[in-house]
Amino acid sequence: MTRTARASGSEVREAHPEHLSHVIFIAAAAAMGGFLFGYDSAVINGAVEAIRHRYDIGSAALAQVIAIALIGCAIGAATAGRMADRIGRIRCMQISAVLFTISALGSALPFSLYDLAFWRIVGGFAIGMASVIGPAYIAEVAPAAYRGRLGSFQQAAIVVGIAISQLVNWGILNAADGDQRGELLGLEAWQVMLGVMVIPAVLYGLLSLAIPESPRFLISVGRDERAREVLAEVEGGDVDLDARVAEIEQAMKSEHKSTFKDLLGGTWFFKPIVWIGIGLSVFQQFVGINVAFYYSSTLWQSVGVDPAGSFFYSFTTSIINIVGTVIAMIFVDRIGRRPLALIGSVGMALGLALEAWAFSFDLVDGKLPATQGWVALVAAHVFVLFFALSWGVVVWVFLGEMFPNRIRAAALGVAASAQWIANWAITASFPSLADWNLSLTYVIYTVFAALSIPFVLRYVKETKGKTLEEMG
Ligand code: GLC
Repeated sequence: MTRTARASGSEVREAHPEHLSHVIFIAAAAAMGGFLFGYDSAVINGAVEAIRHRYDIGSAALAQVIAIALIGCAIGAATAGRMADRIGRIRCMQISAVLFTISALGSALPFSLYDLAFWRIVGGFAIGMASVIGPAYIAEVAPAAYRGRLGSFQQAAIVVGIAISQLVNWGILNAADGDQRGELLGLEAWQVMLGVMVIPAVLYGLLSLAIPESPRFLISVGRDERAREVLAEVEGGDVDLDARVAEIEQAMKSEHKSTFKDLLGGTWFFKPIVWIGIGLSVFQQFVGINVAFYYSSTLWQSVGVDPAGSFFYSFTTSIINIVGTVIAMIFVDRIGRRPLALIGSVGMALGLALEAWAFSFDLVDGKLPATQGWVALVAAHVFVLFFALSWGVVVWVFLGEMFPNRIRAAALGVAASAQWIANWAITASFPSLADWNLSLTYVIYTVFAALSIPFVLRYVKETKGKTLEEMG
């Protein structure tokens, strides 16, 4: 029996529970790329000071070595979309797994600083690819009624990846007697931190061998028979497979053949829908979320928390990030993506404004006054909580599902690479902005959080409960 659910006025098929557990496995395996995304982008934090000493470089050069990985991410994201349309989603996952693996080994055993930077770019390229393939693939295999929740696996995996990398770094540091350059397994501790990533990278490669290619990709290359099998696998055997294949084919035909050119149109270079994707990406980054993750220790120390305490607060931030993500996973298919985004924007603006207020006070003996110190701490956690239960999840879910079939992978690639460039702009500018005026820096992030509200209200359409074919 095929059960149906009414959502947004359209009929959506629900998968049977036995199919659902299979789809959950498939989505979780694909989200392993998200885990590597979170792990790889956060792992460097534990290694920076050791790298600075080992190569005797200043902050500016060090910032470049860190930020350069984000440029690799942008290029990887831009490339992955079209690559996914040409060779398929699964092949892309495999290429990214191989790149993750060699980048982990290369970064752990570099010959020079340039060599290290090179391997970080390679790793960045793999992250960029994974950031595009995960959401696109999951949206394409998930039954409509569960797509938001399954799509949020990507963000869940990212946040768990960030938290685990902090824990592993902490464990390695302890094993090396608290010294990032202390010896461990014949290497320096920071090298082990970067090298450990080989384990999830290989696992990602193996998992990608166990999951099926996306039915939409299969249909686009004329492998309808295989597409039918996969649809039966993920949506249930009693679904009218011929009708589903015809529906997908029809939706694909109504678009031109997918090239970069298909993203162009209208007066503003890209089609409006592509701009909306770019806007979502840019707002997600311009609220300064990664300042909270990449610079947390520096931030806490600058307001008088000792190094051990700052590690602790970075970790509590990660836990709050996970909690917020779980809340979003519960609500994304119930109340929808748009309301979540709006609630999040309000909460983020509030948290950021409070941080701006707290940081506007002068430090006394290198510390904020007690009340402001507490306000800063609580406000930072409120901000991360609201980000996690909204924009963290919602943007990746939107990017996976909001574009018409034919341009999905390419459009997602453009939007995701805009996100990496925006991430780079915020990450690279924070140290100078903070030196200039920490409080005003937070005012800037507050303004972006506030502006995201009219942006969503005016431009972003709800996608909850619709099949991908209805998105066109
Ligand atoms: C989202 C953002 C990413 C950030 C993460 C934090 O995935 O895209 O940049 O690091 O959330 O949870």
